[in-house]
Amino acid sequence: MFRHRSSLVQVSWCVDLKFPPKFKFGAATASYQIEGGWNADGKGEHIWDRLIHTHPEKIQENATADVAADSYHKWREDVKIAKELGLQFYRFSISWTRILPDGFPKNINKAGAKYYSDLINALLAEGIEPIITMYHWELPVKIQDMGGWANPLIVDWFGDYARVLYSLYVDRVKTWLTVNEANVVCDCGYNAGIYAPLIKETEFAPYICNKNILLAHAKAYRIFEHEFRHRYYARISLANNLMWIEPYSPEDSELAELARNHAVGRYAYPFFSKNGGWPPSTEKVMLKYSRKQGYNESRLPAFTEEEKIFVKGTADFLGVNYYTTNMIRSAKPGEDPGIWFLTGAPELNGILEQPPNAYYGHSKILPIYPEGIRKQMAWLKEQYGDIDILITENGYSTSNYQLEDYDRADFYYKHLEQVLLSIKVDNVSVIGFAAWSLLDNFEWLAGYTSKFGLYEVDFEDPDRKRTPRASAHFYACVIKNRSLNDTCLNKKFIAGSLHYKRTNSADSAQNYRKSLMRL
Ligand code: NOJ
Repeated sequence: MFRHRSSLVQVSWCVDLKFPPKFKFGAATASYQIEGGWNADGKGEHIWDRLIHTHPEKIQENATADVAADSYHKWREDVKIAKELGLQFYRFSISWTRILPDGFPKNINKAGAKYYSDLINALLAEGIEPIITMYHWELPVKIQDMGGWANPLIVDWFGDYARVLYSLYVDRVKTWLTVNEANVVCDCGYNAGIYAPLIKETEFAPYICNKNILLAHAKAYRIFEHEFRHRYYARISLANNLMWIEPYSPEDSELAELARNHAVGRYAYPFFSKNGGWPPSTEKVMLKYSRKQGYNESRLPAFTEEEKIFVKGTADFLGVNYYTTNMIRSAKPGEDPGIWFLTGAPELNGILEQPPNAYYGHSKILPIYPEGIRKQMAWLKEQYGDIDILITENGYSTSNYQLEDYDRADFYYKHLEQVLLSIKVDNVSVIGFAAWSLLDNFEWLAGYTSKFGLYEVDFEDPDRKRTPRASAHFYACVIKNRSLNDTCLNKKFIAGSLHYKRTNSADSAQNYRKSLMRL
């Protein structure tokens, strides 16, 4: 039997295996990771352009995203493959400096504005809903040089950028995400200092960034509310990177709950809680930690009462990027938690361990634990009530050119199964799921060595040819059937009409089954 059958059998006792009508299937990408055209048609420079061009050694194989998957020129093909998959929505991001070359609205780059406008129109023409991410990590260099996310003025600057985007596209775009993975921006960019802007300042910068980024999100939301909502309907939120955290042993249960509030709650409590502001347990943890380090005050800047009200309620749903789960335990005397960014483990004096039975794709920092996505959503519901959750990313990495990516199909099966359990058994309002990613792209520090695409991109080919992988056929089949029943697992599908023909179908079916049965 398939390994995943056990829990599906549980579901099928009481519910069918169909996704509810309101649930939408999609896929996601980000501008810097796919577009290329880094200085095309008046685009300005952003912090990842600068990182890549000044510190090529930071990226595996010195790769650049100057061309990437060349979606700046090949976007029509991207729409075509989105259509081929049967996507109901496509989440893409806008490169701030393609629209506003130096970051400020005094000069709107017409070519950049037209690029996204054409993409939106083409998606709509195919019946695919466009979902825009305003900020997927490409800060204009001019704004960075004035302090970036550590400068409180960024709140207004981001608001001005958001206003331009609404003016250009809100007549056609009804779902918006302001910031992708605020915790990664603050922790990888300003704490660990491994992502642009490469600032390694562990004491203040990440926490100032935390506050400013939430205020900037809220500013963008309030601008829509005050200036556009009387004419247009739209739902606005942000996409958070939510790692599920388990206790390593029963004694670590309290620590795990603190860690969840600290890592996940920091980016959700301010919007969804009754009182707003930081999670109270995080305020306590930060005060204690700061005092231990010799400061009088908490290094996490407090929200004023006015700011709490400004931020509260500014998320119409929650965007969840889910990839991984970790366990946490207390550090033993003398053991150094190091910088375990994304969880706040050092503040909590905790050590992260991989979950039992976890397995890995290419990325060794992302233990795979499908149950984590369901647990995460159940926790969110328990904390914040019946909020709508949109899974804005979930995906699996492989290393080589490989069309027979049965492990990726298996990964999606297992995660979708948990999503179904979440909807049908836990009654969580999950409104959609975006596979990361539509196509192979520039995976930040890993360059092109880590591939997440449903479609393979040939980066050696100047034309950046796109070819569907087995997982693309699997996902297309699930979307078509809107169910996790047997249809997409049987031989007929593998040998069937879709254009996956690289190996003979009997082998494919066998491999596919083998990987789905991996025990
Ligand atoms: C989340 C990020 O949003 C995306 O840019 C990245 O490629 C994936 N994680 C995979 O690491």
